[in-house]
Amino acid sequence: MHLTKQICEDITWVGGNDRRISKFENIYPMTNGVSYNSYVIKDDKNCLLDTVDYSIGRLFLENIEHVLNGDRLDYIVVNHMEPDHCAVLKSAMNRYPEAQIVINQRTAPMIQQFFTDVDTARFVVVNEGDTLSLGKHELTFVMAPMVHWPEVMVAYDSYSKVLFSADAFGTFGTLDGHIFADQFDFDRDWLDDARRYYTNICGKYGVQVQNLLKKASSLDIKYICPLHGPIWRENIEYFVNKYNIWSKYECETKGVLIVFASMYGDTENAAEILASELSEAGVKNIGLFDVSGHDCSELVSQAFKYSHIVCASTTYNGEYFPLMEHFIAEIKSHGLKNRTIALMENGSWAPQAANKMKADVEEMKDMTILDERVTIRSSVKEDQMKQIEALAGVLAEQLK
Ligand code: FEO
Repeated sequence: MHLTKQICEDITWVGGNDRRISKFENIYPMTNGVSYNSYVIKDDKNCLLDTVDYSIGRLFLENIEHVLNGDRLDYIVVNHMEPDHCAVLKSAMNRYPEAQIVINQRTAPMIQQFFTDVDTARFVVVNEGDTLSLGKHELTFVMAPMVHWPEVMVAYDSYSKVLFSADAFGTFGTLDGHIFADQFDFDRDWLDDARRYYTNICGKYGVQVQNLLKKASSLDIKYICPLHGPIWRENIEYFVNKYNIWSKYECETKGVLIVFASMYGDTENAAEILASELSEAGVKNIGLFDVSGHDCSELVSQAFKYSHIVCASTTYNGEYFPLMEHFIAEIKSHGLKNRTIALMENGSWAPQAANKMKADVEEMKDMTILDERVTIRSSVKEDQMKQIEALAGVLAEQLK
């Protein structure tokens, strides 16, 4: 049975939720599922904006049929060709053979890469600033390369003042009954998933996200309709501000993230003592995460959040713990910068972790590595307590 949601006059959400997905892009664990959003504008000409993942294809086609109610579909706008939004494109093209496919120059080859026997005569190629009149509604296309693929564009409806923002302003998580962000307690229930989505999907492309934010700042926006997660119609500046912070690699929270890798609990013990010392010293925001207990996508998200990061690792095969290596490699590949890093190491016969971690962090941009470091041999002793207290003191001083 169809399930659609009215967004505003003439515009209907025809997407759906995927609670069966275990990993988004087959890499990011989906604890709260994900929505695939798609929209229909009904006007003199009827227009579908993007399609959905194959997993909800049947519902999606029913939704379009319900909204069109026998009317013809004139256009399908493809803002993004990643298969979570285009898997059903060919099915929709076959079902609505009269619909023209609105794309940009970079989209055209991708459609032909993903599908065979595509009728290119149906393509309408648009460039930056081009418009498409549907009647009252007029779409203006704005290119947004690398937010998150090179062919990405967004569309602005000047009549309803809606920005169809593609992956930008999306989040992981399903839409459970509600559709608008203001119907949820977004800050409490969605922000962590939103940051995990942003940092892992678009985090590397901060410059490109900044370019899009600059272009969007000249538009009068009443609604943001992303391809994932809730739709924004109130307090839009709250979420735009988050995107601004994340894409500039600024910290969201002044505080200390401690990420630890511990085989038998002693490095964890050192990390916990540091956290306690920080608390005693008045540091309010402290995050303590076990690399073995959290998916790296969550750790990347937390690293984007905090101003200071402590990496505490056991030495392992003359290197440092593989999951800590993965964490540092991931924050590096996602372009994180402007953070203060402190290092703690453990080693029963030849502690190496701190030097190895330092060498990897030094390859990142604009990272400050504190001289204060903690070295423990097997387990924390009084001497190391002094090192931990000294490190806590420096961190607390910086966070005053
Ligand atoms: Fe939601 Fe880049 O796909």
